[in-house]
Amino acid sequence: MDVKEQVREKYGQAALRVKSGGSSCCGSAPSSTGCVDPITSNLYDSGQTSAIPEEAVKASLGCGNTTALAKLNPGETVLDLGSGGGIDVLLSARRVGPTGKAYGLDMTDEMLALARENKRKAGVENVGFLKGEIENIPLPDNSVDVIISNCVINLSADKDRVLHEAFRVLKPGGRFAVSDVVTRGQVPADVRQNMLLWVGCIAGALEQHEYVGKLAKAGFDGIDMEPTRVYNIEDARAFLTGQGVDVDAVAPHVENKFMSAFIRAVKPASKECGGPACCS
Ligand SMILES: C[S@@+](CC[C@H](N)C(=O)[O-])C[C@H]1O[C@@H](n2cnc3c(N)ncnc32)[C@H](O)[C@@H]1O
Repeated sequence: MDVKEQVREKYGQAALRVKSGGSSCCGSAPSSTGCVDPITSNLYDSGQTSAIPEEAVKASLGCGNTTALAKLNPGETVLDLGSGGGIDVLLSARRVGPTGKAYGLDMTDEMLALARENKRKAGVENVGFLKGEIENIPLPDNSVDVIISNCVINLSADKDRVLHEAFRVLKPGGRFAVSDVVTRGQVPADVRQNMLLWVGCIAGALEQHEYVGKLAKAGFDGIDMEPTRVYNIEDARAFLTGQGVDVDAVAPHVENKFMSAFIRAVKPASKECGGPACCS
């Protein structure tokens, strides 16, 4: 199975668990009320979760609260890359109001079915869930004001392609505002692999400077990275022990090296044509 198939299978099963009354958690301690791991738990406040269907909250598998990521204005078009059960799309739809539009894009049929059911329960009209891959966004050039995404880009095996596509569909001046897992500095390959298994990344998180470099290469300006949760060895101890890892031996390589972060950037308002990031 290639990376994409593994991701699709994993999140298809997570969606089915939510539909059958469980939680979407992939970790060792699923609970009926939601995930209890330090990455996905307690991201949203009760005022936000009470405003959307319970199944959208239970399906939440992000690593940040996207409502704190970007200011959304009435009438804007927002696109959520890898929208899962739809929590961030439904929250965004309320923020852009009836004259705006919130799209969710996901490749997993079971997640799309769950998201569409959540849209129906929420009774919102200004929402569209699209089937497709974040490496080939099914929207025209220069059509979106804000791109959000919550813990998805780390799963892609072709991050350059994802960032290129995000740049293409954003309007000039449009904002890229995503939450993602990133790493800091050098980490031995085997430690990195075990930690990313804990995080749930199949393809892998980018090192922070590499992420910034890829955004710049795609044409973005104003790139900024804000840590939101930094993980320590105790967060991952039980999982790593279960994997047969000598946790105390690897601890120095893990401490402060894995984090969730807000990553923000802007598509320049106008650009001279001729370069690789030329606006069409
Ligand atoms: C970690 S979950 C996050 C879901 C949602 N953003 C949230 O906060 O709950 C990842 C989601 O991204 C989708 N996904 C992963 N890789 C994708 C890709 N290459 N193209 C489209 N969807 C993808 C999965 O199907 C899954 O629904």
